[in-house]
Amino acid sequence: MAQYDVFARFYDAVNGEPEDRISQILDYIALFRPDAHSVLELGCGTGAILAGLGSGFSLTGMDVSEAMLTHARRRSPGARLIHGDITSFSLDTKFDVVISVYDTINHVITFDGWKKVFANVAAHLHEGGLFIFDLNPVGRLRDLGDMAPWVYDFDGHTLIMDVDFTDEPLARWNIRIFEKQRDATYRQHRETILELAVALDQVRDALAPNFLILAESDTQGSRPTDGSARALFVAQRVGA
Ligand SMILES: C[S@@+](CC[C@H](N)C(=O)[O-])C[C@H]1O[C@@H](n2cnc3c(N)ncnc32)[C@H](O)[C@@H]1O
Repeated sequence: MAQYDVFARFYDAVNGEPEDRISQILDYIALFRPDAHSVLELGCGTGAILAGLGSGFSLTGMDVSEAMLTHARRRSPGARLIHGDITSFSLDTKFDVVISVYDTINHVITFDGWKKVFANVAAHLHEGGLFIFDLNPVGRLRDLGDMAPWVYDFDGHTLIMDVDFTDEPLARWNIRIFEKQRDATYRQHRETILELAVALDQVRDALAPNFLILAESDTQGSRPTDGSARALFVAQRVGA
C-alpha cells in the first residue's frame, strides 16, 4: 500500500477546497506563461487542483496512491491520470507547466529523490516552461512538531493528527481517524505520512542547473526563509 491509501477517502473532507492554491497557480501562469495550454500535476492526489484549473488546459496528473487517483478520476474526468512515482517517470510528451503543490515534494524523503524530481520536471518541460511548486520549510515542520495534536470533527467522524519531528529532518505525520459507524461505534484508521525538510538554499542550488527562479513567496508574498510557514517557487526551464 502507498501512503495516502488509507487517508484518501477522507482527504477532501478534511482539507476542504484548495481555491487559494488554484488561484495562485492561475495567477502565476497568467503572469509568466499566458500561452500555456498543457499542465502536469505531480502528486495530484484527489484531483482537486486539476479540477479547479478549468477546461482551458490539457491536464495530466500523476500520483503514487491508487486510492487518491480513484477520487481524481471522478473529480477531474477530463484529465489524463497516471499511476506513477514522481522521482522516476518518463512520459511521451512535454508540458508548458508542471505543478506540485501542498508540500508533495516533502513527501520524497531523500534529497537525492528531490533532485531526481527536479531532473524529471526539467526533462518534461518545454523551453521556457514553468515549474510551480510549494513546500513545508524546516521551521514550519518544527512548529508543527511543537504543537499539540490537531483534533478535527467532520461528517460525524474525528481526526487526530500530530507531527513528530524528533527525527529531524524527517517529520512523521501520525493520522488517526475514528470513523463513525451506523451503530454509533467507531472504526479506527491509522496512517503515518513522512515528510523531509530541506533548507531552501539547497533547493535553490538544486534548481540552478536547469531553472531560473522567477518568483518565490511565503504565505504573505515575501521571499520565504527556512522559518516561513510555506515556500512557493516559480521556476522557468532554461537551456532545454
Ligand atoms: C499532500 S497531498 C497533495 C495532493 C494535491 N496536490 C493537493 O494539493 O490536494 C500529496 C500527494 O502526493 C502524492 N505523492 C507522494 N509521494 C509521491 C511520489 N513519490 N510519487 C507520486 N505521488 C506522490 C501522495 O500520494 C498525495 O496524493
